[in-house]
Parts: sequence; structure tokens; C-alpha cells
Amino acid sequence: MGVFPAKIRFKLRDLDVFPNTILSPMDGVTDAPFRRLCRVLSGDRMGLLVSEFVPTDGDAVFNLEGHKQLRFFPEERPFGVQIFGRFPDKMAAAAQKIAVSLKPDFIEVNAGCPAPKVAGKGSGSGLLRDLPRLQEILHDVRAALDRCGVDMPLTLKCRIGWDSDSINVMETLAIAEGEGVEMLTVHGRTRLQGYNGLADWDWIGKVAAAAKIPVIGNGDVNSVARAFECINRYGVDGVSIGRGAMHNPWIFGQIADAWEGKPARVITAAEALDVFPLYYGFKIEDGSTDKGAEGRLKQLAARLCKGFSLDERREARDERDACVVSGADDVAMQVRQSLLSSSCAAELLDRAQSLKEGLAKDLVFDPDRLVNLNGAKETELRFGDQFKGR
Ligand SMILES: Cc1cc2nc3c(=O)[nH]c(=O)nc-3n(C[C@H](O)[C@H](O)[C@H](O)COP(=O)(O)O)c2cc1C
Repeated sequence: MGVFPAKIRFKLRDLDVFPNTILSPMDGVTDAPFRRLCRVLSGDRMGLLVSEFVPTDGDAVFNLEGHKQLRFFPEERPFGVQIFGRFPDKMAAAAQKIAVSLKPDFIEVNAGCPAPKVAGKGSGSGLLRDLPRLQEILHDVRAALDRCGVDMPLTLKCRIGWDSDSINVMETLAIAEGEGVEMLTVHGRTRLQGYNGLADWDWIGKVAAAAKIPVIGNGDVNSVARAFECINRYGVDGVSIGRGAMHNPWIFGQIADAWEGKPARVITAAEALDVFPLYYGFKIEDGSTDKGAEGRLKQLAARLCKGFSLDERREARDERDACVVSGADDVAMQVRQSLLSSSCAAELLDRAQSLKEGLAKDLVFDPDRLVNLNGAKETELRFGDQFKGR
């Protein structure tokens, strides 16, 4: 596994954050039921949870009721609300209202979203092309938090720059520290890259080395071993994990186990399949429609099932008996297809149960075998162009 990590906790003002992991916010994924799934599977050992990003541009007056992403539960603390927008006054007003009414543990500004409808309008990672505006937003949000009497840390999540010719994450760090930001999460891609290529951890390491505030590294962390490596090699205070949590919602518990010196917990294929009824229950309890829950089950299945492969012992037996042997990827595909082609949530859950009673005994669940989280076979840094011209 490698050397025990240099850092297993960090301080966000007076909060002792252990383990030093964050479930990276993902719009349309990390709602309260998904966060609950990860939290329960981790044995309640996640460092920080963050809301999906909340828009502030649209409303004439920011209105809490209009934003379902703002809902969180006491057991999710320490919990941060992430906001995005391009108008300093609207960002400040929203931050103040959220702080006073909902009292999260921190407010985070998003300077990372690459979507054309966000970044193209100057919000999210669009702010990286207009650092004076980012500075004004941070300044005004900080001032609003100071004014409202519910003092709480302000944090920032950014990318390393707009494109490979304009990497400005060191300037972003300087601005953030100057404006009182107390934690910076750096996603090691440019806006142009979108989610292509691999995150550039060298840049994240440079930020961590220069920063006075905690720096959280983000991008492609999908295993305990990779979390070890990122902390030790790049000196970050913690790691933020997004898509890796959809491939392996146990990852936070596995990291916590490792940090607590416990042996690595192996998730069996049957346990992995049990996640579907658990998640479905959380979605329904949270008021989701059956159709809505079905969509989320399939979203999870599409990634989680990539971790299934044929147990080597079964492969050896099949070879000996000269049976038709399905390759590891074929089996993962077969399980995935079976779940994704279900016509409703009940059918998906029935199929998961049948797989559990049948095929699962010949399968292993090993999400660590994935090289990357994009689906493509990318193993080196490449500045992609997912959002070229948009
Ligand atoms: C579907 C999706 C939605 C996302 N929504 C947000 C968001 O609301 N706020 C945010 O800061 N980042 C968002 N991100 C970016 C992730 O938080 C994270 O920075 C990115 O996926 C890289 O980390 P990973 O390699 O661990 O997935 C989103 C990513 C995905 C895939």
C-alpha cells in the first residue's frame, strides 16, 4: 500500500476534519440520499460533505425555497453549501441568507464548473478568465458573512486555469488567501479539458507547497492507494473524491480504515449488489418519485458495475472444464446491461437480487482495477478539448 500518509486530518478553522476526505460536489448526483449512501457505507467517517452547487444569478432576490440543493440533515455535518454565480452582490446576498437561515459549517464559492451555460456566462470556471471579478465575489461574500453575525469559513473550489495557455491557479491562491478564504480545493484540470485527460497533480502540488491555507487535491482519486499517493507525493491536506465515489461508494470508509490502521475491507460482489436496494430506499424516503429513483439507480449502476469481474478461481475452473470463458470485462458488461436495461426500478432491484443469488458467487468487486474515471483508456496527462469553442 505504501508509506502511511503524512497527513490524515486537517483543520478548517476550528473544525478538526478527519479523515481528510471530501465527497466532491456533483450536480445531479450528490444529493442528500447519495451523500447518505456514502456516509452510511463509510461508517460515518467522511471528512466534509458539500451541497451540489446552487445558482445565484437567476433570482432577483435569492430565495431559499427555490433551491432543493440546499437541503441537508444534521447528521451530515460538517457540511458546506456551494454557490455559483457571476454577480458579487447576488453571491453575497445568497451567502448571507444561507448562512443566517441554514447555518451550514462553511460556504464555498465555485470557480470550477466548465459547462457552457455556466462558464460561458462568466460563472464557475468562467471566473478564472476574470480574476478581478473572482476577487470581488470572494471579498463581498466574506464581508457579508462577517456582517451577518453567523461567522463561518469561506472556501473556494477552482480549476487550474481556463486552458493550458492560461494556467493561473497560483494567482487564484494568492487572491483567495488575500480575501480570507480558509480552504482551497483544486481540481487539476483546465476548463477546456472538461473531464478529459487526467488531472495535473503537479500543479496541485505546487499550490499545496505555496499555500498557507489547507489545500485539497481533486481529480481522478479512485482508490485508497491513490489517496495515499496524492497526500504523500503532492503534499495536499486532503483529497476530494467525485466520480470515484460512484464507482466505489465504500471508498471513504476504506480510506478511514487505512488511516485508522485497520486492514483493507474487501467488498464482495453480493455486498456491492446490495447497494441498489439501500440507495433506492434512501431516494424514496427522501421523497423521490419511482422514476427519479430508477434514474439514479441506473446512474450508479453504470459506474459501479465496471468494478465486477470474474473470480479467478471460477476462470481457472472454467478453463479446466473447457467451458466458454467470459472475459472479466464481458462479465462487468453483462451485469451492467442487465441492470441498465430494466424497465423500472422494481425490475432493476429484482435483477440485482437474482444476480446476487446466482452470478455473484463467481464474481469479485474490485473498483481499483479501473485505470481512469472517464471510460476511455487514458493513462497520461493530456490537455483535452471537451469544451473547445463553447
Ligand atoms: C456530474 C458531475 C457534476 C458535477 N457538479 C459539480 C458541482 O456542482 N460543483 C463542483 O464544484 N463540482 C462539480 N463537479 C466536479 C467534481 O466535483 C470534481 O471536481 C470532478 O469530477 C473531478 O473529480 P473526480 O475525478 O474525483 O470526479 C461535477 C462533476 C460531475 C461529473
